[in-house]
Amino acid sequence: MPELVIYFWTLIFVLCQAHAQTAFNCTAPPNFQNFDINTCCRTPELDMGDVPQKCHKYVNQLKSANSKYPSYTHLCYPDCIYRETGALVNGKLRVDRVKQYLEQHVHQRDQDMVAYIMRSFDSCLGNIKSHMKAANIEAYKVLPHGCSPFAGMVYSCVNAETFLNCPPRMWKNERPCNQAKEFAAQCNPLPHVPLPSS
Ligand SMILES: *[C@@H]1O[C@H](CO)[C@@H](O)[C@H](O)[C@H]1NC(C)=O
Repeated sequence: MPELVIYFWTLIFVLCQAHAQTAFNCTAPPNFQNFDINTCCRTPELDMGDVPQKCHKYVNQLKSANSKYPSYTHLCYPDCIYRETGALVNGKLRVDRVKQYLEQHVHQRDQDMVAYIMRSFDSCLGNIKSHMKAANIEAYKVLPHGCSPFAGMVYSCVNAETFLNCPPRMWKNERPCNQAKEFAAQCNPLPHVPLPSS
């Protein structure tokens, strides 16, 4: 029996080693063909009322608007979303308000996802704020786009972090998804977005 136990642990060890060796070349992401990676972690059902419509209009009247891209990809879209939901006040993100908003607007059956999203907010804000502190930056400057990149960075970071820590119930356990997750975990560490220099 002890031999069996040892064999078992040896096998686990060998399997882990083999797994650790599948390191990615970070400059060459895997090719997912037409697989939509955004469907890997199902997003919770969230009713934001007229906020998306408001922010769509807001972004489209900015000088930096580009009709070639959907408005939700604009850098200032998250800035508008957080402002309109009461989470961004005078350039500062209030996590207590984010949590309250999610608890009130995420569908009942997806409520368990709120804790995961809030954990992502904590990781992302902690990381971004420590970078700002290290660079002696009080607040990121408003860009010619029409807003500071802060909200957009937090938004992208939270999405990436929640993807990496997606609860199993929301995760599509398919090869491209698992590969994308492994690639992101290895090659795209926190804050998962490029940092502005000022
Ligand atoms: C990683 O991929 C890049 C781009 O395809 C290539 O130039 C480079 O040689 C690769 N590096 C390694 C270690 O394979």
